[in-house]
This record gives sequence, structure tokens and C-alpha cells, in this order.
Amino acid sequence: MSDRLDELRRRHARAEAGGGDERRERQHAEGKLSARERIDLLLDDGTFVETDKLVRHRCNDFGMADQVIDGDGFITGYGLIHGRTAYVFAQDFTVFGGSLSETNAKKIVKIMDLALKTGAPVIGLNDSGGARIQEGVLSLAGYADIFLRNTLGSGVVPQISAIMGPCAGGAVYSPALTDFTFMVDGSSYMFITGPEVIKTVTHEDVSKEQLGGAVTHNTTSGVAHFLAHGDAECLQMIRELLSYLPQNNRDAAPQRASTDPIDREDLALDSVVPAASNLPYNIKDVIRRVVDDSKFFEVQERWARNIVIGFARMDGRTVGIVANQPEHLAGCLDIDSSTKGARFVRFCDAFNIPILTFEDVPGFLPGTAQEFGGIIRHGAKLLYAYAEATVPKITVITRKAYGGAYCVMGSKHLRCDVNLAWPTAEIAVMGAEGAVNILYRSLPEADRRAKTQEFQERFANPFVAAEHGFIDDVIEPRQTRPMVIRALRMLATKVDTLPRKKHGNIPL
Ligand code: HXC
Repeated sequence: MSDRLDELRRRHARAEAGGGDERRERQHAEGKLSARERIDLLLDDGTFVETDKLVRHRCNDFGMADQVIDGDGFITGYGLIHGRTAYVFAQDFTVFGGSLSETNAKKIVKIMDLALKTGAPVIGLNDSGGARIQEGVLSLAGYADIFLRNTLGSGVVPQISAIMGPCAGGAVYSPALTDFTFMVDGSSYMFITGPEVIKTVTHEDVSKEQLGGAVTHNTTSGVAHFLAHGDAECLQMIRELLSYLPQNNRDAAPQRASTDPIDREDLALDSVVPAASNLPYNIKDVIRRVVDDSKFFEVQERWARNIVIGFARMDGRTVGIVANQPEHLAGCLDIDSSTKGARFVRFCDAFNIPILTFEDVPGFLPGTAQEFGGIIRHGAKLLYAYAEATVPKITVITRKAYGGAYCVMGSKHLRCDVNLAWPTAEIAVMGAEGAVNILYRSLPEADRRAKTQEFQERFANPFVAAEHGFIDDVIEPRQTRPMVIRALRMLATKVDTLPRKKHGNIPL
């Protein structure tokens, strides 16, 4: 027995040593934590249970038989985050560059299968040189096995990826299939083909950081959802995100006691919208004044800033917020903001999170770049997402709701449950000037001005829509929080369905 115990302890020690002190020091010198340190920070203290610590690779080619490290460079297992189960895998760059092998891919597959069966989130901490080159197609097969689980698990359990080192080639597709991707600024990058290949093929000079660093993917490509300064902040942010999410698609969004009164009125909201309707204001000021404790956990803060998305709590329960941002592109919808909003709405719908929309949108962004880029197809995504969603949907029109954008942004016609408008709302086919320029082009200037005034008075208000019942009520801005909370309470038992089908065909 004691021999066996010694052997067990030796194997555990080898697994824990990973690629050795020197490589771990190199990791630290690059400002990165080790895989085990990352897991310790991610999970509640002392809750990690490791799986497959004794797994070894089976490769005999290229001298691999002599290089065996227990655990094979991926650390997998489960533990608790805020007292709730979460599955985790962490690639250990100190072991064969964190590369994916036949055997360590199976370790990931095992916890993903468990996550699906037990209904708990999966978090992947990526730091890897990609496919283990010595293993060839066995490694590729491992990736594909993981991609399959990412897809099958989509909409069943939340899946979160953190990029904390290299992530290149086809390896990027696992994070891309997950719900949220975090990147650590300065130490992570993601790309399909690296700078050298790009130089050869397109003769472009670009650094790794410019091509696929955290800033690039958080501002330009929209591939990433969060940017963290350092590993510790990244892991803390993942914990915070999870505090808003249910464990799975059968679970309700979590509730947290809040001391913020549910009937709190905020007088400042009455004067948030500027008198001149073409002046901007920051919609995040509105969001923070309405939600519990002014706490708004924004998603994709740096990309497509003309739409704001994120999580907050109202009455202690999670809501997903979608809001046009008049401070950027006047809040117009364009290709990126439509895609950003659509994906978020679909996430909330998949995970039983009510959607609260703040609308101030002058329309879709005009221009050849948008038309040639397929704004028709991309705008349709947002429309589709809102129409398809069966969770409670509440819309507050703060100012503009023009044209197709009125229909898209959580209108009554797309099965929104409660539609409210502030007195400052303008709900019409288009702005008064645009309408007069089309209908009364040939009138003299003075008559056109009079017609513009007439249009403004007739349509640039919420009352016509309210007369038709498309708006349930016009409310004083200060009452927004109590009114939304009452609506959320009323909708807590909402059941709505879609026609029977295999799946829809969202415009991609
Ligand atoms: C096996 C690997 C490896 C890999 C790195 N290592 N990548 N071993 N397979 N893919 C090993 C190195 O040999 C080295 O071992 C150790 O990990 C650390 O690597 P370094 O190169 O010293 O580190 P660094 O200078 O920081 O460079 C990191 C790197 C580089 C940029 C990631 O290692 C690299 O370019 N690796 C190859 C990347 C790649 O082409 N992968 C395949 C991509 S295709 P020692 O013993 O010296 O410490 C792919 C397809 C997936 O992944 C498809 C899915 C569908």
C-alpha cells in the first residue's frame, strides 16, 4: 500500500510541476500566471477538484515517448464560483507550449459532457501554441471534438473563454463558438494566420498585437467581449459575469437581495434628454439611474459603441440591457451594432434573462459602406433576434424611434410585452425635415418650413403610437425604475413559444 501511495504522490507531484520551474518563471516574467494559479484565482477558495490529473499522452513519434508529463499539459476539473458549480480547463503553456493533444482534448471533452449533463457553465483558460504538432491529425480530431461540444452546448450552458496567451489557427474557433471571450491586454492574441503568413500572402506588415491583440479584438473586430489588464483582473471579471448568469437554460437568472428601493424615482431623468432633439446625451447615465445600485456590467464596451449592451439587476434579478447610444453615430444602427445587439439578445433569450431596451434611434446608418457591407442582412439579425425572443421584453423609448429602426428595437409588433415612452419620444417614419423634403420638394422654402413644423407637431411625439396601443403608456422619465420593475414582476411567469421547427434560419 505505501508503495502505491508513494507512486500516487509522485505522479501528482509531477503533474503539479508541469513543465518545471524554469518554464513557469518564464511565464511569470511575461506577466502571466501559471495555469494552476489561474484556476485558484478563478474558483472559490479550496473548491477545485481536478480530473484526469494522471492522463498521459500516447505519442511515440519525434522523441515524445521520452517526454511524458502527467496531466499532459491541460488542467481540467470543476469547482465553485459564488457557491455554484463551474467546470474549468486551463492550458498550461509550460508543457509542450500548452498544445492540444489527443489525450488532453479528451480531458476537455469529458468535462464538457459533464457540464451538459449537470447543467453548469464551462470556462476555458486558453494559453496554447495550438495543435500538438507531433500528433498531427489526432490533435485536429481533438479540436473538432471540442468544437462539436461547444456547438451542442450553445444555449444550454454558458460557455466562457479567456485568452491569456497565444491562440492561433483553427484553435480560435472554440472561443469563437463560446458566449463570451475575455482577452488580457498585452499578453494574449488571436488570429487565424499570423503576421509572417500575412506578409507572404498579402505583403502587409502587421505586428501580432496589431493583428490580434486584446485592443484589436475589443475595438475593431468585435471578436472579444472584454479586455482585462492582467490575468488576475481577467479572472475576477469572469467571476463577476457569472454572478449575473443562470447555470443553464432551465435555470432562472439568479436573484440577489438589493437595498435599492423598487419605487425609487429619479428626478434627474426628467432632464436627461436635451431640449434640442439633435443633441447627444449618454444613455449609460440613464441605465445607471434606473438599475439596482447604479451597477451596469457592460459587454463589448469598446466595439460598436452606438449600441450599448450588458447586464444589470432590477429588483435583485438579472436583466439584459440593450440601448442605442446617442453619443456615438447619433445612436444609428449599423452593421456592427446590429450584430452586437442580435447576439446579446439571443444569449439573453437562451438563458431566460429578461431584455430591457432603451431606444433612441434615428434610423439605420446611411452610406455605401453600409449598403455594400450588407446592412440589410446584418440589420435583419437584430430584427430576427428580437422577434424570436420569448423572454420578458420591455422597451422604453426615450427619444427617437424612426423608420425600420422603430420596428427593430423591441417594438410591440415583435412581441414586446411592455412598451413605454417618455414624453420626449418621437415615433415616426422619418424626421420632419426628411419627410417634407420628399413630400413637398417643390414648395417654396417658407411653406416647407411651415410643413416641417406641422409634421414635427403631428408626429414627433409618443401620443400617436399610444393612441394606437403600440405604446402601453407614456410615463414621466423619473418613474422609469418603478414602472420597469412592476412590469418585470408582472412578466415573471411569462410563457411564450415559437412554432414547431427544427431551427430557424437567422440571416447570417
Ligand atoms: C508542440 C509546441 C507547440 C505545438 C509550442 N510548442 N507550440 N509543441 N506543438 N503547437 C513548444 C515549443 O516547442 C517549446 O518547447 C515550448 O512549447 C514553448 O514554445 P516557444 O516557441 O519557446 O515559446 P514562444 O517563443 O513564447 O512562442 C510561442 C508560439 C510558438 C508563438 C506559440 O511556440 C509557436 O509558433 N508555436 C507553434 C504554433 C503553431 O504553428 N501551432 C500549430 C497551429 S495550427 P520547449 O521544449 O523548447 O520549451 C493549429 C491548428 C488547429 O493549431 C486546428 C484546429 C481545427
